[in-house]
Amino acid sequence: MMTVDPVRWGGAAAAVAAYAGMCLTLLRARRAAGKRPQDSGGAAADWLVAYASQTGTGEALAGHTVATLRTGGLSARAISVEQLDEATLRGAARILFIASTYGEGDAPDSAARLARLLDDPGMALGQLHYALLALGDSTYANYCGFGRRLDAALQARGAQALFARIEVDRGRGAAIEAWQHHLSHLAGTSDAPDWSAPAYGDWRIAARRLLNPGSAGAPVYRIDLLPAAGELPAWEAGDLVQVSAPGDPDYPREYSIASTMAEGCLSLLVRLHARDDGSLGLASGWLCREAREGAPVLLRVRQHSRFRIGDNTQRPLILIGNGTGIAGLRAHLQRRAEAGQARNWLLFGERQAAHDHFCAGDIAAWRQAGMLDAVSLVFSRDGGSERYVQHALAAQAAELRAWVADGAAIYVCGSLQGMAGAVHATLETVLGADTVAVLDQAGRYRRDVY
Ligand SMILES: Cc1cc2nc3c(=O)[nH]c(=O)nc-3n(C[C@H](O)[C@H](O)[C@H](O)COP(=O)(O)OP(=O)(O)OC[C@H]3O[C@@H](n4cnc5c(N)ncnc54)[C@H](O)[C@@H]3O)c2cc1C
Ligand SMILES: Cc1cc2nc3c(=O)[nH]c(=O)nc-3n(C[C@H](O)[C@H](O)[C@H](O)COP(=O)(O)O)c2cc1C
Repeated sequence: MMTVDPVRWGGAAAAVAAYAGMCLTLLRARRAAGKRPQDSGGAAADWLVAYASQTGTGEALAGHTVATLRTGGLSARAISVEQLDEATLRGAARILFIASTYGEGDAPDSAARLARLLDDPGMALGQLHYALLALGDSTYANYCGFGRRLDAALQARGAQALFARIEVDRGRGAAIEAWQHHLSHLAGTSDAPDWSAPAYGDWRIAARRLLNPGSAGAPVYRIDLLPAAGELPAWEAGDLVQVSAPGDPDYPREYSIASTMAEGCLSLLVRLHARDDGSLGLASGWLCREAREGAPVLLRVRQHSRFRIGDNTQRPLILIGNGTGIAGLRAHLQRRAEAGQARNWLLFGERQAAHDHFCAGDIAAWRQAGMLDAVSLVFSRDGGSERYVQHALAAQAAELRAWVADGAAIYVCGSLQGMAGAVHATLETVLGADTVAVLDQAGRYRRDVY
């Protein structure tokens, strides 16, 4: 879907004139870009494709965008907006932005620096031609909130749009085709490379186990999956899967992978979601209850670069999460244990130790093997006073500072509402907002929150 302002774009004549104008602008931009040898990723690319992505959709689209521009002989490279520094932004002639929205109309974590730069009233971007692909989900109140704010901020700083912002609602193809169409004009080619998302694979539920019998909260199941045929595909700790649920194939559900490849199966921790009317969530209801063991599951693995270990392998890790958030943390801890990388501190919160101590066996084994230096378990319904992981973090402020001073990276997985925001605020209180921003910028603060 291409956004159309009914006032500005009211009549057909205006639309034709605008289209002609757009073509001219594109033509000028193309001429200015010239046809250069393909850029190998160095700093001098004529076209920057800057993505602000949380779970990787925008990053993948940025890769396709670069490939399309290069097909036409243009020099282009993709960068995460967190690499977009002031000098690059002020000096760039052409940037294609791809921006998703998180939380409640918020920017993805990677966009903090860009937001700060654009807040600067002294930032003048008259030299910049840009276009913007905004990713979002219209079931959220603040649809494409960050993309829209980014567009307004760029315009307020004098940057000139090559064409109107395009908004993609839950990955819908028509909007992406409109973007591809513009790219083909820019690159002067109709040979677009393949943009289709990887196909779903056929998997089977190999085992399913209730992790929290008797819990006051909703049931959580560990679901072990195997490909219906052939080998396990490659994944890393931190990656996600998308499950295509029967009855809603166009709207995949994401789950954090809880296991490592070395364990021989792909495990998920899925909480049975109950809707307001009492009916079960479509995907979780099916995975946890309706599908029998052995039932086929359509699934694809999704690289989640922002939550992978990246270059933090040698650093101590502080892993913070609640509920099913232990899934993403478990994969990291298991991987660390396999590689013999000690110096890990786990902070995990749930309701009652007697029922909700997921992964208790793993935690005991990692401790015994010397892989966990510290474990802070917080059960909010035990012991009278409600305590959550952020309280445990605040209570251990001195340890937190010491670990960070020692080079630790911080991984947060679990609920965005309630946990991740409160943990972020605690980190800022204990470490200072500037330090948290520096850790974020350096890839030492990573989140898989939903
Ligand atoms: C990055 C990430 C990681 C996650 N990891 C985990 C995990 O490890 N474990 C876990 O239990 N959960 C995880 N989730 C949540 C999970 O993806 C599902 O949201 C959850 O299981 C509920 O889905 P459901 O289909 O059961 O519920 P549903 O109620 O069917 O769907 C949940 C919501 O999706 C929306 N929705 C449903 N159908 C449509 C539709 N057709 N069009 C538009 N909107 C629709 C509605 O707002 C609905 O309230 C993660 C989410 C994200 C984004
Ligand atoms: C926890 C969460 C919160 C979201 N909040 C919003 C929102 O407020 N507005 C919106 O338009 N889309 C929202 N989305 C949808 C994402 O923007 C959309 O799924 C996008 O394609 C993700 O792209 P990415 O993988 O590049 O981050 C949200 C998605 C999640 C998982």
